[in-house]
Amino acid sequence: MFKLASVVALAVLLNSHRVLAAVPVWGQCGGQGWGGETTCVSGATCNVVNNWYSQCIPGTVTSNPPPEPSTPGPTSPDPTSDPSTPGPSPTQPNAACTPLPANAAIPTVSSLPDPFQFIVGGRRAATKADWECRRAEILELAQRQELGTFPPKPSSLTASFSGNTLTINASQSGKSTSFSVTISNVPSGTGPHPAIIAYGAASIPIPAGVAVIVFNNNQVAAQDGQGSRGVGRFYDLYGSSHSAGALTAWAWGVDRIIDAIELTPGTKLDPKRIGVTGCSRNGKGALIAGALVNRIALTIPQESGSGGAACWRLSDAQKASGTNVQTASQIIGENVWFSPVFNQIASSNVNRLGFDHHSIAALVAPRAMLVIENTSMEWLGNMSSYHCPRVARSVWRALGVPDNMGVSQVGHSDHCGFPSAQNPELTAFIQKFLLNQSSTNTNVEKTTGSYNFDQNRWVPWTTPTLT
Ligand SMILES: *[C@@H]1O[C@H](CO)[C@@H](O)[C@H](O)[C@H]1NC(C)=O
Ligand SMILES: *[C@@H]1O[C@H](CO)[C@@H](O)[C@H](O)[C@H]1NC(C)=O
Ligand SMILES: *[C@@H]1O[C@H](CO)[C@@H](O)[C@H](O)[C@H]1NC(C)=O
Ligand SMILES: *[C@@H]1O[C@H](CO)[C@@H](O)[C@H](O)[C@H]1NC(C)=O
Repeated sequence: MFKLASVVALAVLLNSHRVLAAVPVWGQCGGQGWGGETTCVSGATCNVVNNWYSQCIPGTVTSNPPPEPSTPGPTSPDPTSDPSTPGPSPTQPNAACTPLPANAAIPTVSSLPDPFQFIVGGRRAATKADWECRRAEILELAQRQELGTFPPKPSSLTASFSGNTLTINASQSGKSTSFSVTISNVPSGTGPHPAIIAYGAASIPIPAGVAVIVFNNNQVAAQDGQGSRGVGRFYDLYGSSHSAGALTAWAWGVDRIIDAIELTPGTKLDPKRIGVTGCSRNGKGALIAGALVNRIALTIPQESGSGGAACWRLSDAQKASGTNVQTASQIIGENVWFSPVFNQIASSNVNRLGFDHHSIAALVAPRAMLVIENTSMEWLGNMSSYHCPRVARSVWRALGVPDNMGVSQVGHSDHCGFPSAQNPELTAFIQKFLLNQSSTNTNVEKTTGSYNFDQNRWVPWTTPTLT
């Protein structure tokens, strides 16, 4: 069995070096400037992701793959039974939503795009059901223009738990991959207990009562500069030319960790009360995981800056006024966090993005998120890192749950250090959304900075009340 898989893998490897070999599943098969093969292997279809990237996807469909179709486990409690933990938003593609056509014209917008305004049909979201469709549209746009394709659950997934190590094995189309996470601080008692998935290692204090799952995200997708594109356990399964950037590949890993927890009662963890955190580059990862994986109950990006909590347009404005802030055009050369689909827009004009990171953050709504930022670090873009998530909060407000999202920015001198001034909000969010203590105060919108933010210039739209 293993031998056969090796032979198949070798054959694929050899084929990829022959100029006229058919493109494997998930490989690039077209796009402006593409000079390679455009025919997919048998059983796959060349799908236009955007003008700069087409990709072979399994099957014979001609539209983009739908968003993550995972379903909650059959034994999950009714999410409506606990008002403090709004269940995940519906995960099935809503049949009532109009999918974004492959050739949809994306308007160029120099303000922060209206998160409620549909591209398809030109109307604004007015109801919560509308928001589900608009959310699906943003999810699709974000994959096409920035993140690359977020693959659904692989056809086969197994998990084993031994000592404090949970090992996940995923396979599909004759390929397989495997990675492990370690689980510590599991409370006593039968549980199930909440847990926080920490990218690399947690750099926030995690209280007793909440287990810690250490996720070696670098192993799932490397982040070692341009040479590490397509390297890691994710790409062993989907191929090194898969369109997903590292942030998307890590989110896929988080999604699989939750699958494994669902399959493994022996972990004593509750898949309905999972948080995710990371700092700096891994903070960008935590934010994208919260956006893409709609089973995460609490998302805590820390000092994520540009590519995370900050907005590309606001960071560009800070750069233009003389701040040494990370921008889209810089980030695509620094590392492989984003998909190659992002390169063209990032290097020319971010106003062509049909969204900005306030909309990406809003994909988390109505689930809980606490954005932790640092006023003092120039590279993070202090104005952008505060006002972008603050604008995102309008979506939680529109959904009637503003206190499910908080923004806290405090100046301090150690990057990824955690100042005690942010302890009250961190504790309140963990207590409410992971430990079921509904009385804590999570109404948080604070910064130690003061900025001249031109609300009319950046936010020329109003926040509706979605009914
Ligand atoms: C994962 O599962 C597949 C299919 O059952 C198997 O072929 C492969 O050897 C397994 N890989 C690992 C690392 O366990
Ligand atoms: C917080 O800002 C301080 C001041 O620049 C910086 O020294 C430290 O590295 C930052 N941690 C940050 C800022 O991310
Ligand atoms: C929190 O609520 C969940 C589901 O409603 C339940 O399974 C769990 O035991 C509760 N945990 C605590 C700490 O109250
Ligand atoms: C924001 O960062 C810039 C550049 O480091 C700094 O000059 C400014 O004082 C900061 N603003 C606030 C309000 O802290």
